[in-house]
Amino acid sequence: MNQRNNRRLVLFPVPFQGHINPMLQLAQILHNRGFSITILHTDLNLSIHPRTPTSPFAPSAMASANRRCAAPFEERLREEVSSPDGRDAPVTCLIADALFRFTWDVAERAGVRRMVLRTGESRLEDPVPEFPPLQVKDLPGINTAEPELLDQLLHDMTEGIKDSSGVILNTFEDLEEISSRNFPIGPFHKCGPSSSGSLLAEDRSCISWLDEQAPNSVVYVSFGSIATVGESEFSEIALGLADSQQPFLWVVRPGSVGGSELLEKLPSCFLEALEERGKIVKWAPQQEVLAHRAVGAFWTHNGWNSTLESISEGVPMICMPCFSDQKVNARFVSDVWGVGVHLNNGLERRKIAEAIRKLLVEKEGEEVRERAAQFKEKANSCLRQGGSSFRSLDGLANHILSSES
Ligand code: UDX
Repeated sequence: MNQRNNRRLVLFPVPFQGHINPMLQLAQILHNRGFSITILHTDLNLSIHPRTPTSPFAPSAMASANRRCAAPFEERLREEVSSPDGRDAPVTCLIADALFRFTWDVAERAGVRRMVLRTGESRLEDPVPEFPPLQVKDLPGINTAEPELLDQLLHDMTEGIKDSSGVILNTFEDLEEISSRNFPIGPFHKCGPSSSGSLLAEDRSCISWLDEQAPNSVVYVSFGSIATVGESEFSEIALGLADSQQPFLWVVRPGSVGGSELLEKLPSCFLEALEERGKIVKWAPQQEVLAHRAVGAFWTHNGWNSTLESISEGVPMICMPCFSDQKVNARFVSDVWGVGVHLNNGLERRKIAEAIRKLLVEKEGEEVRERAAQFKEKANSCLRQGGSSFRSLDGLANHILSSES
């Protein structure tokens, strides 16, 4: 498995947390299959960061990144391809994030085959049974002040995918139907350890805190690296956690809530609950948290990485999607896979507490817990020898090594 094959792959992630993680994991997987890996990355530049207080995802940021990165990327890729000192293995393929539109032309000019990594959901072409002929991609996903730019971004992404030599997906066959030319080789993070791509320092004190909690008693709360909540939502979340009477671990990322002294302003019933059975951190080692025996439920925004990480550990979810693919992911979690409950109509402390108690303690949540445990088994068995992702990875390696483009 670890035999080197004298072929090199160039990987190019979009510089956001939810995109860096799967690309680094993929790098490790392909390195384990014998490929040499070069990762090109942009200078982390806040001016292309998609978060603003009012719009969590600004398509103009991505459009600007696509414009500004093209020339420097082409220069670097050509250097890699020509490898003047002959020290490195030849570049066989570029694997770029699907959101980087310019990489198709650049790869073609440089004479390199291009594959794409889809870091989000992969069901854009699925029909929506209730609303024929709509497809998932037709559903309103992102509230943005820049709808034309968003359309353009999604259109370019879809065209770029069609035009690529193949699509690598961080998913597995038991979760969804996969069309041909796609390589579902996930869950990536369960394929083995990879280097941490965390942009924020992980607070490991939450692991020793979890060690002291009873099995399956804790609700873990985190809304990923981009989503933000308003002040009133923040206090409703706090009150819901207090009302649930369950232990909680809550990630409050810097900048994710308006106002900095909010915690002190929260009502005393929450502060007492926090003291007694809660823990707040700025950023957690999430995969380790979800794998911890004390964690019994995950209140999530349903970013694809979080969703898959939760499924892989058999942790049922409370779904609170914010934008883009998260809404579709959440609907699959609650209505298709049945491994979570949806906080459908806004945030209300009583409903939050009910959802937490349902998943952690009530008999009513037993079926959801059981299904989550079954999916954990599926997520692990697909990676074993002969499993669907295992076979798909063989197919991917052969595809890259084949001379066709
Ligand atoms: C973005 C989009 O928002 C999401 O819709 C898309 O599917 C992927 O890209 P993000 O919102 O950050 O991602 O969410 P998610 O996909 O869940 O990725 C977050 C990553 O950060 C996960 O791998 C998670 O393990 C990690 N994380 C999160 C931590 O390591 N610590 C934390 O405290 C929180």
